[in-house]
Amino acid sequence: MMTVKDIDWRTLGFGYIRTDLRYLSHWREGAWDAGTLTEDNRLHISEGSAALHYGQQCFEGLKAYRCRDGSVNLFRPDQNAARMARSCARLLMPTVPTETFIEACRQVVLANLDYLPPYGTGGALYLRPFMIGVGDNLGVHSAPEFLFSIFCVPVGAYFKGGLTPTNFVVSRYDRAAPNGTGAAKVGGNYAASLLPGREAKARGFGDAIYLDPETHTKIEEVGSANFFGITRDGRFVTPRSPSILPGITRASLLHLARERLGLDAREDDVYVDRLGEFSEAGACGTAAVITPIGGIQNGDHFHVFYSETEVGPVTRRLYDELTGIQFGDREAPEGWTL
Ligand code: COI
Repeated sequence: MMTVKDIDWRTLGFGYIRTDLRYLSHWREGAWDAGTLTEDNRLHISEGSAALHYGQQCFEGLKAYRCRDGSVNLFRPDQNAARMARSCARLLMPTVPTETFIEACRQVVLANLDYLPPYGTGGALYLRPFMIGVGDNLGVHSAPEFLFSIFCVPVGAYFKGGLTPTNFVVSRYDRAAPNGTGAAKVGGNYAASLLPGREAKARGFGDAIYLDPETHTKIEEVGSANFFGITRDGRFVTPRSPSILPGITRASLLHLARERLGLDAREDDVYVDRLGEFSEAGACGTAAVITPIGGIQNGDHFHVFYSETEVGPVTRRLYDELTGIQFGDREAPEGWTL
């Protein structure tokens, strides 16, 4: 088994590494139990669990960062708690109170501090909270019991190369349906993305780009990350849609573009046949952080934004601002780091 001593912090990617302790809490008969930290990284659940058959589950992703002075920052966990509550409501699952969610995150970070990548390596401790419907069941019903757990894994770059441009390809598949579960962080959306993602990677692209499922004219998402672009007249734009995942990095960049870079920042339609309006583009998410988009292949047409090898100036400023806050080097907006 891999131990913390085997980890090369500078070459860490985004993959499972078993850490020491994870949080586990069980909901039955209308209430959560006290929750505990456990060494066991296996779950023992009924074969009839609704999570296994009907996808009654959801998850979150957030990171803890080691700062220059050795302290630890958790980035906007209240936002993850709130989003998880919305996912739970959409899938008829019980919610976890925000205070419990944050306290459980804290416990998991403190119990695995050795796995928190050192300051300066660019890595972070990724926390994966999730909830699954469990218990004996057969019909298409909400589960009789639920598990809420948080494990953590030290991670580096999600896309190879970190802040180097990556190319993406527009997929012919849809990720989510209008009025479906696209805005909830549920596994089904990611299951639907596996085949398009594999096809994109087989063609040498970083991942698939999904268009709006209704008209197939507007960009919605970039793999499991959100899209943003900088227009030639200096606006920060990220897609407006009810079926995209409301990313916390995306919301943070909207704020930082407006408040720190002085840009007009808004959600708007991003037409795939009008990419020439953008001088820069990127994918953003907790795992992806900010990944500059070099170019997008759409059918026979390949559109390059800023460059396939260089990072655009606005993208770099956003990256520096965001990661500066996360690693404690820049002042955080009120309540962003705990
Ligand atoms: C994240 O950015 O945290 C995600 O959840 C995306 C993916 C790794 C599932």
